[in-house]
Amino acid sequence: DKAQQDALKKAAGIEAAQLIQDGMIAGLGTGSTVRFLVDELGRRVQEEGLKFTGVTTSRRTQEQAESYGITIVDVDDVDHIDVTIDGADEVDANFNGIKGGGAALLWEKIVATNSDRIVWIVDESKVVDTIGRFPLPVEVIPFGAGHVIKRFEAKGYKPVLRMDADGKEVRTDEQNFVVDLHLDRIDNPLELAHDLITTVGVVEHGLFLNMVDQVIVGDPNGPRTLTN
Ligand code: A5P
Repeated sequence: DKAQQDALKKAAGIEAAQLIQDGMIAGLGTGSTVRFLVDELGRRVQEEGLKFTGVTTSRRTQEQAESYGITIVDVDDVDHIDVTIDGADEVDANFNGIKGGGAALLWEKIVATNSDRIVWIVDESKVVDTIGRFPLPVEVIPFGAGHVIKRFEAKGYKPVLRMDADGKEVRTDEQNFVVDLHLDRIDNPLELAHDLITTVGVVEHGLFLNMVDQVIVGDPNGPRTLTN
């Protein structure tokens, strides 16, 4: 159930917080698992005097981090990022994953690409044999989005434009739309990634292929680490 799952997410977040040490520049991801990570980092800043600089992957995470007094700077104001800790929606044994359930995939991928080391924190339900059961998020420019969706339909990608509770299109932090592809399974993620990124109007997709160095999995027996 959700309380159990939250406990696993929290355990993974607290474990990962130990990777952040004084003086580091740390990328902070987005999502409910990362919220637990940032809570723990905030606690260490306030109780233990931890001093580090954060680069965030969404406005939500920035607000949460700043509420704890964590220093957040723009990604373009750092020359490197020591480690980025983020969540994920699915990850397989080849360290291929899906991200973007929280619509932050574009900034997440930019921060990840500029990080020396990438760590994901997930609960055990996200470790899968084949990715794709989780609908694959694709960030699309609003102009002409209807045509992009038609193209995806013609290819059998089963696209659904993501809407919010008020029936309006979800907007990313860059004011783009998110289209979720209901593929069920992705047998050739590299080929799909290439097809998506070469579609005009697509800004980025949620396939993060073999980018992650370490996955910390919240497990009922305690967090375990998968190393790539
Ligand atoms: C945000 O866009 C996503 O990539 C999140 O990292 C992902 O959806 C995991 O979120 P949860 O930790 O809430 O499951």
